[in-house]
Amino acid sequence: MLFDERPKERREDLYDREAEIEKIKDSIGRPLILVTGIRRIGKTSVIRVALNEIDVTKIIVDVRGLPENYSRLHLYSKLAEALSKTSNRIVEALKRVRGISIMGFEVELTWRGRDMVTLPSLFDALDDTGAVIVFDEAQNLRGPLSREFLESLAHAYDYCRNLTFILSGSEVGLLYDLLKIDDPSSPLYGRYFVEIKLERFSRKESIDFLEKGFSEAGKNVPVSLIEEAVDLLDGIPGWLTFYGARCLEGRCDPREVLSLATRLARRELENLLRNRPVRYKHVLKAVAEGARSWSEVKRYLERVENKTISKSILSNILRNLEKMSIIKDYEFLDPIYREASKKLV
Ligand SMILES: Nc1ncnc2c1ncn2[C@@H]1O[C@H](COP(=O)(O)OP(=O)(O)OP(=O)(O)O)[C@@H](O)[C@H]1O
Ligand SMILES: [Mg+2]
Repeated sequence: MLFDERPKERREDLYDREAEIEKIKDSIGRPLILVTGIRRIGKTSVIRVALNEIDVTKIIVDVRGLPENYSRLHLYSKLAEALSKTSNRIVEALKRVRGISIMGFEVELTWRGRDMVTLPSLFDALDDTGAVIVFDEAQNLRGPLSREFLESLAHAYDYCRNLTFILSGSEVGLLYDLLKIDDPSSPLYGRYFVEIKLERFSRKESIDFLEKGFSEAGKNVPVSLIEEAVDLLDGIPGWLTFYGARCLEGRCDPREVLSLATRLARRELENLLRNRPVRYKHVLKAVAEGARSWSEVKRYLERVENKTISKSILSNILRNLEKMSIIKDYEFLDPIYREASKKLV
């Protein structure tokens, strides 16, 4: 069903994305694939659909929600959880690895001490299975263990001939920061990777998506409402799906959906900014209120903070907000985040 709000698993539930799915499938066997795009654009769906269409063992490690200063225990819990959800082949391959115990269908990883499992030894043990290992929202792996993670990825890149890693990221600049492919001091320096960038639907595609979804569900919705929804929600598949699903429940007012979506996005923004100085919020509000240049943002900040603002600090904040894929060139990448920013308190 096109309007199912969970990440899609099957191609018939996914609108378009043919080229992206084929590119992922064609790239299986290469060491490293990046799938990038803003929140709700369909990264997880595209990866899952592609992997469900080929005969590979997949290990999907969802690293959303890793705390900023995550420990090895945090990381290994995510890995153990992912390994426990995979096939017998994986479990068989892991049985002989020191520091790994198999309890029924659950995999346990020793995370410190003499028997600690190291990531390179884990990847070596998995190599014969030819698994595809996905780290979903991989930018969250930045932090104290990022070097260890990168070194193990570089090890797998060079020595595990059968493994493919897929890293997805909705904070695209932060994902690049993690990998540091262009930095000679990074373990992954100069390594080639395939990148699949997911873009929003065009206006025409967005309308077609909504029409197809309603027709699939046998519901008649006036074109004017569909067009209004697309105008407000832009071509972001996740918001369009949200609208479609609500409308199937009889709540077809696009403005009502916009306000629900804004509330959701506001909570997400608050989360993203939780450990950042309050000035980040001011910069977002400035851009949301229409500041279109560096000096306009600066003027806005100086007004609300009653302070002069240092050049380097402001540039740094703008750069970080771009890396988080929230804004680019003084525009929000997602109009709902613009509305949400206006409402930040
Ligand atoms: N091409 C598509 N056709 C139909 N539904 C889609 C499509 N792309 C995304 N969706 C829907 O949009 C929502 C977001 O999709 P998904 O979770 O795959 O995106 P994501 O980029 O991984 O998002 P996040 O950054 O929040 O993890 C889900 O409800 C999903 O079902
Ligand atoms: Mg996702």
